[in-house]
Amino acid sequence: MNAIIVYWSKTGNTEKAAYAIQEGLEEAGADVVIRQLKKAKDAEDIDFFAYDLVCIGFPSYGWRPPSPVEKFLLNKFREYGDTGLVEVGAPRVPGRNVLIFCTYSGPHTGIREATPAVLYAGQFFEHLGFTIVGEWYVIGEFHGWDEGSTRGRLGDIRGRPNNEDLEKLRQDAVQLVKEIKKSEA
Ligand SMILES: Cc1cc2nc3c(=O)[nH]c(=O)nc-3n(C[C@H](O)[C@H](O)[C@H](O)COP(=O)(O)O)c2cc1C
Repeated sequence: MNAIIVYWSKTGNTEKAAYAIQEGLEEAGADVVIRQLKKAKDAEDIDFFAYDLVCIGFPSYGWRPPSPVEKFLLNKFREYGDTGLVEVGAPRVPGRNVLIFCTYSGPHTGIREATPAVLYAGQFFEHLGFTIVGEWYVIGEFHGWDEGSTRGRLGDIRGRPNNEDLEKLRQDAVQLVKEIKKSEA
């Protein structure tokens, strides 16, 4: 199995999550490419269809993916649309899987600040026929905003994602590879 992890991270939380996922995927035997996206064009050369598993990670910004991530997804979607790969009924393309992971602080409404971002990003892939194999939410400290990291709905989230969070991600990634292999055997 080959996989690519594309992530955007400003204050490091999503990057930590990306590395933990990479570790787990590799432990389960996958070949993994990891790419950091800063601007939309940094990753425009990536062909999603070249991978058994695409993992895309970003923080929630105003309950959406940050704008470089949104631009990247829109540009790729237009590109695939122009080549006829966006079809009515979105027929499943066997063996093409996507994992969306999102770090968030949830200071106001908790996880509901991340779900719209994840569901939105997932649609770009599901419209291409990918199977969404995971929607993972990772709590991350709101660096630079103490009140948001201590008095929000999620309580004191300073230091998150912590070692325990990262270990869980690693284990979940191992499990994910096993499940994908099993479902496609
Ligand atoms: C400009 C900005 C907007 C944010 N908006 C939200 C938000 O709407 N909801 C939320 O739960 N977290 C929000 N956060 C917190 C981040 O999603 C969270 O800290 C994330 O883990 C940061 O990821 P990173 O360290 O990879 O950049 C925001 C952070 C910043 C800097």
